Amino acid sequence: MAYSFISLDQQDAVLVLTIQRPDQLNALNKATIEELNNALNAADADASVRCVIISGSGTKAFVAGADIKEFASFSVEQGEALSRDGHNLLFNRVENMSKPVIAAVNGFALGGGLELAMSCHFRYASENAKLGLPEVTLGVIPGYGGTQRLAQLVGKGKAMEMITSAQMIGAAEAKEWGLVNQVVPQEELMNTCMTIAQKISTNSPRAISAALRSVLSGYSFAENGLNTEIKEFGECFGTADFKEGTTAFMEKRKPTFEGK
Ligand code: COA
Repeated sequence: MAYSFISLDQQDAVLVLTIQRPDQLNALNKATIEELNNALNAADADASVRCVIISGSGTKAFVAGADIKEFASFSVEQGEALSRDGHNLLFNRVENMSKPVIAAVNGFALGGGLELAMSCHFRYASENAKLGLPEVTLGVIPGYGGTQRLAQLVGKGKAMEMITSAQMIGAAEAKEWGLVNQVVPQEELMNTCMTIAQKISTNSPRAISAALRSVLSGYSFAENGLNTEIKEFGECFGTADFKEGTTAFMEKRKPTFEGK
């Protein structure tokens, strides 16, 4: 299959999926999400793939979020659909893969970018990585699972702080908080991910799938939370704060929110 926004590179049993929109800091537009869905479906069905690594092109960003320019004029219904479709096509799809998916966080992982990294089964980061959920600066909430998966990974208190302050944390702090497992210099990131992926590839694929299902089943309470997230995310699209937040981003100025 031909892809425009992602590239695929298989080394032995490890498939590396790289998002290729460096000039937009690899922001996730609809087409990229669909391509990732296709590539993940194919990888899941392909017995020659035993582990997947997801990364972003360039040295600056893993993924800087959902594509703000694409959703800025969405209605409440479109906002809700954006969140629901995203869960189905990408974020839950990654989490429910039958083989491990590792996020190689090579720079900014913001909003949908951090949500994508958190959908992966675990994360390694480069020293320059910056992670955060800045959605409330746009008048919206994390809508790709962030309200659920961040709390699962770092605990409720730290998740509340990160989501409400919209502040980014650096790689070292992310490791301390349990958000990433390892931090390495950028030039070593892919090799470090490849080494653990190769190790994983020598283990029983059947047992690994069973282990992934078992670990995840302990967190399935997120389903109700995800439904709340989808509804609340959609409702943000009908607010003046959302219009102000997204317009300010595109006009490259600070927003002024009135709480409406
Ligand atoms: N959606 C759409 N475009 C995005 C984007 C996003 N989430 N993040 C970055 N871009 C685009 C910028 O608009 C810019 O494009 P342009 O040159 O056509 O205007 C390009 O990527 C480079 O980004 P820029 O903002 O110039 O880089 P920077 O180094 O000054 O800042 C960030 C980097 C990551 C701090 C900044 O891009 C940012 O805040 N991005 C949005 C993060 C966010 O809110 N994500 C959550 C979305 S729900």
